[in-house]
Amino acid sequence: MQFDGKSLVITGGGSGIGAAIARAAAAKGAKVCVSDLDGDKARAVAEEMGGLGLACDVRDEAAIQELVREAEAAHGPVDIWVSNAGLGGGDPSHAASQPNDQWELNWQVHVMAHVYAARALLPGMIERGSGHLVNVASAAGLLNQIGDAAYSATKHAAVSFAESLAITHAADGIGASVVCPQYVATPLLGLSDKDARANLLTADDVARAVIEGVEAGRFLILSHPEVGKYAAHRGADHDRWIKGMQALRAKAIETFGDVSVESFYKLV
Ligand SMILES: NC(=O)c1ccc[n+]([C@@H]2O[C@H](COP(=O)([O-])OP(=O)(O)OC[C@H]3O[C@@H](n4cnc5c(N)ncnc54)[C@H](O)[C@@H]3O)[C@@H](O)[C@H]2O)c1
Repeated sequence: MQFDGKSLVITGGGSGIGAAIARAAAAKGAKVCVSDLDGDKARAVAEEMGGLGLACDVRDEAAIQELVREAEAAHGPVDIWVSNAGLGGGDPSHAASQPNDQWELNWQVHVMAHVYAARALLPGMIERGSGHLVNVASAAGLLNQIGDAAYSATKHAAVSFAESLAITHAADGIGASVVCPQYVATPLLGLSDKDARANLLTADDVARAVIEGVEAGRFLILSHPEVGKYAAHRGADHDRWIKGMQALRAKAIETFGDVSVESFYKLV
């Protein structure tokens, strides 16, 4: 799908990758509605592009329905929806050590929010025979984020749900894309553009990949192409891939003394 003149809504658009996608889509001529848990951040990004900025907690299905209504009242039927909101956590000690509420938070934000958006949008998109749903998952949804089991499990579920959307609704004229970046220098990692290097991309790099991928009608959008190679290794020999990940974990502990996400990006 092309962006010019289209109505686009993005969640978690007040920061990082979401803000960069909002800016890139507006530069392509889209009418952009930026939403975020933090309404002030959403409005600040929207103001840059003369868009609409709204607060929305994606864990709340009624709030997502209201976001659709407000965006449609301002810009017409939603053509492109980007489910981008996300968060990181980290295992306090062992792989099952995050408390239940943290697992539930990951599940709500990384999976159910995508379901709520699709449920609110699909009837209209099916009727119009067009639309595009973009779900920002992560390389952790194809591989694994060592040290964050809840993030990894829910991002896998996000990839699977995006697959279901793509398989089920192509016949309705609706596109679906899943975005699986590896490390990106955003506040999620406590980083900003000045920290970017080789495989630690900027949010703008990811936004460029998203725009190109949606325009080309691609399902799998990889801002870091090497992620496709690692996923192929996993598919070819899962046991060998697990051994490689065990070795990577051991290397992080030897080098940094921990397995935090903030340590891992330094290894790639
Ligand atoms: N930064 C990375 O290395 C990286 C890598 C792969 C995937 N991702 C994914 O990219 C997406 C964007 O992350 P980012 O790096 O830009 O992080 P970020 O922290 O800069 O932005 C995330 C935004 O999501 C919002 N958010 C969190 N919970 C929300 C909720 N309940 N409702 C609405 N908004 C909510 C936050 O307020 C924030 O503005 C996430 O889904 C993340 O998992 C990030």
